[in-house]
Amino acid sequence: MKVLILTGSPHSRGTTALLADEVCVGAKDTGHEVIRIETAKLNVHPCLGCYHCRDNDGRCVYDDDMTQIYPHILTADAVVLVTPLYYFGMTAQLKRVIDRFFAINPLLRKTPKRLYLIAACGDKDDWAMDALVIHYQTLCRYLNWQEGGKVLAIGAYTREDLKDSDYPKLARDLGMEL
Ligand SMILES: Cc1cc2nc3c(=O)[nH]c(=O)nc-3n(C[C@H](O)[C@H](O)[C@H](O)COP(=O)(O)O)c2cc1C
Repeated sequence: MKVLILTGSPHSRGTTALLADEVCVGAKDTGHEVIRIETAKLNVHPCLGCYHCRDNDGRCVYDDDMTQIYPHILTADAVVLVTPLYYFGMTAQLKRVIDRFFAINPLLRKTPKRLYLIAACGDKDDWAMDALVIHYQTLCRYLNWQEGGKVLAIGAYTREDLKDSDYPKLARDLGMEL
């Protein structure tokens, strides 16, 4: 199975990177092909909302690093979104990539996949990730993708906070069960 991991943090060695590492290990150990893309390192323009793609067979006005993502998102069986919580949602770096799915919406909605969510945040409130989870569930519903599963690491400001927690193991288990 092909697994596409899209990470959204600007920190390559941060909290969510550690969780993404665990998902990768679990998925690779199970024999999956894993493609991991750090969206914060890419040159991806935010969608202009010009609708050029609608009249031009899904071609965007921007010729940027989304061209690295489109082939993988179309052929992946599972997609894992990995993001720190930024103001109760995903990071802008990841969101700008998801907005650019718009150009290939019809194709994506016809391609069954499972979507997973891995997130970390500093707060310990059990509601801290509610808005993010609703967004994830709504994406699944709109795209006709299945909800695969999620790991929500609350109380995790830094990767140090993960050390004595179950979250790394939960992320590895998720990778093994994709
Ligand atoms: C701009 C910004 C917004 C944040 N917003 C929230 C938030 O709404 N709730 C929360 O609990 N933590 C918030 N945090 C903390 C991060 O989610 C947390 O530190 C996370 O572990 C960072 O992950 P990373 O190291 O992978 O980037 C925010 C951090 C930043 C820099």
